[in-house]
This record gives sequence, C-alpha cells and structure tokens, in this order.
Amino acid sequence: MSITTFIANNIAKHVKDLVPYASARRLFAASAQSNDSQVPIWLNANEAPTSTQYELDTSLYNRYPDCQPEKVISAYAQYAGVSKDQVLVSRGADEGIELLIRAFCNPVTDHVLICPPTYGMYAISARTCNVGVKTVPLINNDLGDFQLDVANIIAASANVKLVFICAPNNPTGTLPSRLDIETIIQHYAQTALVVIDEAYIEFTDEPHLSLLAQYPNVVVLRTLSKAFALAGLRCGFTLAQPDIIHELLKVIAPYPLSAPVADIAAQALSAQGLRRMREQVTTILHEQVALVDVLASIGDIELVGAQTGNFILFRTMHKDALMQFLVHHKVFIRDQSKQQQLENCLRISTGSAAENARLLELITQFYQIQEVTSL
Ligand SMILES: Cc1ncc(COP(=O)(O)O)c(C=O)c1O
Repeated sequence: MSITTFIANNIAKHVKDLVPYASARRLFAASAQSNDSQVPIWLNANEAPTSTQYELDTSLYNRYPDCQPEKVISAYAQYAGVSKDQVLVSRGADEGIELLIRAFCNPVTDHVLICPPTYGMYAISARTCNVGVKTVPLINNDLGDFQLDVANIIAASANVKLVFICAPNNPTGTLPSRLDIETIIQHYAQTALVVIDEAYIEFTDEPHLSLLAQYPNVVVLRTLSKAFALAGLRCGFTLAQPDIIHELLKVIAPYPLSAPVADIAAQALSAQGLRRMREQVTTILHEQVALVDVLASIGDIELVGAQTGNFILFRTMHKDALMQFLVHHKVFIRDQSKQQQLENCLRISTGSAAENARLLELITQFYQIQEVTSL
C-alpha cells in the first residue's frame, strides 16, 4: 500500500482537508534567500525591529523545567497587576488559544465565535480540534469602523463556548467598544468564555484587565512576541479566574516552556526589561506616526481601520503589483486581501527608522512608475 493510500484511509476526517499553516516567514522564504547582497526587510508579522541580548544560566539544563516557572508567573502577575493564580504561561498566546479550545469546547458539537477580519489562529486552532467556527463579521457603525456586531453575536449563541475578541484587532488596528464587549460578556455569562486577545495592548492604553475582576467568564490573552520584541521566544500568557487556569492546566503539556525560554522571559519582565520595552514602544509609535503621514499623502493609498497596534493597514488598487515590486526588493509585507471586507488591502508592520525609510523609498518609487506608465 502506498503512503498516500495509507494516509487517505487512516487520517482523522477533520484533519484531511486542513493545510499546514503558512507562516509569514515561510511565505517568502525563497525570495528572501536569493543570492544578491540585499538584506531582507521583514515587515509582515508585526514583529519588533530590534533584538536584545539575554543571559542564560545553563546549570540546570540537565533537569526538566517547571511546567509553570515561578519566576515567570510572578513577574507577569506583577506586571499585569493580577494574582499569580490568575496567570498561565504557554508557548505563545497561540498555545493559550488552543488550550482554551481544548478545555472548553466539545469536538463536533461546540463552536467558537470569531469576528472577521481578525487574527487567523482562532479558526485554525478550532478546526484542528474538530470544533465549529461561527463568524459574525465586524461592522461599521456610529461607534466607528470595524466594530462588534453585538446583536448578531448574541443571536449566534447556540453551542458557542468561546467568543474571541481581538483588541487591538489584527489586522484592522481598531479597538472594539468597551460597552459592546461588556454587553457580550453579560449575555454569555452562563454559557461561554469571552476571550479578549490583547497581543498588542502595550501599543495602546486601553487594557481590559478590569473586566477580569468584574466578570468570571472573561479571559485575557497576552504575549511577549510584540512589544517585548521576543517573537522567537514563543512565550504568551492567559489571564483568568484561578478556576479557569486550573482547567487549562489539565490540558497543557507537562513542559510547555524550555528552561532557556523561562530564563529569558523572566529577564524581559524585570524592571530593566520593562523599561526597555516601554522605550521601544515609544520609538515604534513615533516611527508609525511618521509612516502613516507619508502613506496617507500617496494618492492611490487609502488607510483602512486605525493604528492602535504596531501595524498599518491600507488599500490600493495596485495591490499585486506593489507586493511584487516590494518582494523583488526583498521587502516583505502581508497581503490581507483574502479576509472579509479587506479587498485589495495590505498590512505593514512598523519597523526601524531605516527599514521604514527603505519601505517608503520603494513605495514612492513604485507609484512614480505607475504614474509614468499610465500617461
Ligand atoms: C492578535 C494576535 N494574537 C496572538 C498572536 C500570537 O501571539 P504569540 O506569538 O504569542 O503566539 C498574534 C501574532 O501575530 C496576534 O496577532
């Protein structure tokens, strides 16, 4: 029997039609490696532009690490202003998403509810766990663009166990109204957890942690991947009532964080680490304002959403040609045009001053060429 036949006969039904995740880096791996001297500029995964040195203590690397290393849990609890038993640390916020689905959704019958356009992993994780996905698209209303459609989120309640709300929302950069979030939490008080994904919270000043104290069915997701400049570390946090954390501990792997990850995370969360993070956030936001100003002045570019994270979404009729031009010059941004309501939209992660300058130089050059060729 060939391996293809073997797999066709034996693969789990819900896995058969899934496709491996196309990470931002994997998408452009070949283009980045072409052997000219240009250094690739990565502006497609909302990563930080700079990295920091950390110390590693290898003396205990012969031992298995703690499942929930005390130094990381206590540092994050202090940073977030919650108690230690309200914190779970995992392999990125992505693992937090999966643990919530595995712990709270019955395969086949239950659903998660998502509000596209939004972060892709909620739906991907649900599908890998054979859990249904209900979608209630964001709407434009008098509270702003890309707001929660509260009436339809409530109408879709049947068999929903998790409602994912991304704030700031990736990729639109908008913030959902707090009142809407509270209405949804109250509606789902007996039946579902409302998961507020705050991966980009350090770039804005509207955290939802106070809702955690008010409502038992609220969960907040956090990460060191964005403002803390540690996407390569894979370290994220789930904040919730201690009883919810206890359930998640039933489904987490015995050793989710390697010892070096715990060492580095604790340093990133030290007083010095927090100071550095805040300085980097200030620099990125400063850079982002300048980037937005120039982009907004280019005729064929229409800014979409808002910029409460470290990224900018825009629409252009020349989406494919602009992507190709940038890829040719090894500058990688993210195509978001397959998401609902985001036809012809691209997303740029705000980089360093030099990276942004190079990006703007290329974009300006691109539109000059368009103008000349359309004459
Ligand atoms: C909204 C959102 N949540 C979660 C994540 C994943 O975070 P982590 O790197 O901690 O898994 C991302 C990464 O891009 C994101 O944009």
